Parts: sequence; structure tokens; C-alpha cells
Amino acid sequence: MMIILLIDCNVIPLVYFMDGRCTKMDDILPDRHRVKKGDGVYYMAYAMGRMPYNWGEDAEEFRPERWLNNGTFQPELPFKFVAYHAGPQICIGKDFAYMQINKSQLLFSASSACPPHLRPHL
Ligand code: HEM
Repeated sequence: MMIILLIDCNVIPLVYFMDGRCTKMDDILPDRHRVKKGDGVYYMAYAMGRMPYNWGEDAEEFRPERWLNNGTFQPELPFKFVAYHAGPQICIGKDFAYMQINKSQLLFSASSACPPHLRPHL
């Protein structure tokens, strides 16, 4: 269930449009791109969650195994899985959000609103 949740966050990020920062000083980014003081550096989480550069040629395919390493869950680096931003100002409510989403999924699946064939056998 956690992997499905992460896939949802990755391909349909809530903060999907532009997020970014303004540079404080002249700098060189890890890819050697030069930025000047005051430049804006932005990224789009929606696009990054679907980029073959990040996720492989089958980036658009639903493939939960992507998140497994030898059968064990392998979290992605926040600079690749950017739905919650990354670095010092990463979303501090991330784990809380996961807990809430898991809880609401569980409540929904146990409720009568959920089609019977999808309800868990509790
Ligand atoms: C699915 C749910 C959520 C998503 C996708 C999300 C995403 C994000 C993103 C992308 C940022 C960075 C924005 C930026 O600085 O440009 C952020 C920041 C933040 N989020 Fe969330 N968030 C979620 C839920 C929550 C929850 C439940 C809380 C609190 C209980 C929370 C608290 C915060 C706070 C306080 C920041 C600012 C952190 C800082 O600037 O140091 N978020 N979130």
C-alpha cells in the first residue's frame, strides 16, 4: 500500500506546478550550470515524476517493482522523488501526510462506499 501511495504522489503530485527558489549569490549547480545572484531556479514535480531521465524509458508505466531492491522497499532520494520538495526545506509534514492518507484509504476500504470486491478481508 505504501508503494502505491508513493507512486500516486510521484505521478500526481499535489504541488505539481512550479516550485523553486531564488539564488542568494552567484553559484554553479551540480550539472555545472551557472546561476547569478537573484536568478530563479524552478522545477516541476509533475514533469519530474514522469521523466525517462529519472525513472527510465517506461517512466509512464505503473510498475511498483521500481521501488523495490531485491524485494525490499527502497525509498528514493528526495531530489529524484520531489513531490515533497528536497533539501533543508523539505516538507516537514511528509510522514504525517503518509499516515493520514494510509488511514483514510483504510477507512474507505472498510466502508460501504468501497465496492465489495475491493474491501479487505478483516
Ligand atoms: C500530500 C501532502 C503534502 C504534500 C504533497 C506536501 C508538499 C510540500 C512541498 C512541496 C513543500 C515545499 C514547498 C516549498 O517550500 O516550496 C512543503 C512544505 C511544507 N509542508 Fe508539506 N506537503 C504535504 C502535507 C503536509 C502536512 C500534512 C503538513 C503539516 C502537518 C505539512 C507541512 C509543511 C510545512 C510546515 C512546510 C514548510 C517547510 C519549510 O519551509 O521549512 N505538509 N510541503
